[in-house]
Amino acid sequence: MVGSVLMQRMVDEGDFEGINPVFFSTSQAGSPAPTLGGVLEESTLKDAHDIDELVKLPVIVTAQGGDYTKAVHSSLRERGWDGIWIDAASTLRMNDDAVIVLDPINRDVIDRGLDSGIKDFVGGNCTVSCLLMGLGGLWKQGLVEWGTSMTYQAASGGGARHMREVLAQFGELNGTVANELADPASAILEIDRKILEKQRSGDLDTTQFGVPLAGSLIPWIDSDLGNGQSREEWKAEAESNKILGLDGDERVALDGLCVRIATMRSHSQALTLKLTEDLTVEEIEKIIDNDNEWSKVVPNEREATMRDLTPVAASGTLDIPVGRIRKLSMGPQYISAFTVGDQLLWGAAEPVRRMLRIATG
Ligand code: HSE
Repeated sequence: MVGSVLMQRMVDEGDFEGINPVFFSTSQAGSPAPTLGGVLEESTLKDAHDIDELVKLPVIVTAQGGDYTKAVHSSLRERGWDGIWIDAASTLRMNDDAVIVLDPINRDVIDRGLDSGIKDFVGGNCTVSCLLMGLGGLWKQGLVEWGTSMTYQAASGGGARHMREVLAQFGELNGTVANELADPASAILEIDRKILEKQRSGDLDTTQFGVPLAGSLIPWIDSDLGNGQSREEWKAEAESNKILGLDGDERVALDGLCVRIATMRSHSQALTLKLTEDLTVEEIEKIIDNDNEWSKVVPNEREATMRDLTPVAASGTLDIPVGRIRKLSMGPQYISAFTVGDQLLWGAAEPVRRMLRIATG
């Protein structure tokens, strides 16, 4: 799914025009290669595990996922391949000799990496990338003392099958009470009882998520680190500091809970930040709006929030709306914020395609 979004974005932005692409597949080697622009070096798809073919390339971009990176990356490096590897998997992300790419936020870190001979460039965790695209301006100006991030993560974070599973569950639930819904006089508590009964029945397909997500939520994402924290939660602080190139005393604590909800492709986050200064809300909004062309402040008003600060509004766009910015009652340096981003775009494909541009530019 990320691969499809990536290729579509590359077509939209004319990224293939400046390169001679060679396409690889893990399952369809020998089939015709797509014609997406540029000068096609090979007319058929090559085998994505064929190290002899891969070592010929100056740059490899893959959205295949962590298992593929594990299977191929070290074999390539062991063969002496010193090309540029660009992916979006967590496998290499925290390696000292890898840079996490999010160029509107860390172009300086990327450039320093390229200058120092770094060859592995990895897109960050979707939630972290979307968060920093929205509010990174505050971090860049050293204005965040610490933060908590409570996430509302879409089904697409699990993958295409997870999205289908949630929609199938919604359909099943709807079907369970279709007659009652058609009758405005039917009792809502009876509808609620039937829905709960269905959710608890074991009849819903929960192969991907393990428990029903439609009409529910799952306050745990990724593996259990054994200290009460999920791996998804651990990534927030680890990756945000790495993206921003913050070390030692400069590091900013960022921790919270990650929750899966039944949305399709946009992740949201509710943030509490302690700032290092007592800035006005207007000053904060200006920093966020001016940081990059995609972060968009949504006025902290009911109508604007309901219209512009939702997964439905943000999905399919590169905009990262940031709203609900207000001072909290804890003190003048404490603010809330809420941000939404299409996790298949800024959370996955976009940093990767932009890194390819930088690497081949
Ligand atoms: N770990 C993310 C999620 C996927 O499960 O939502 C995006 O990196």
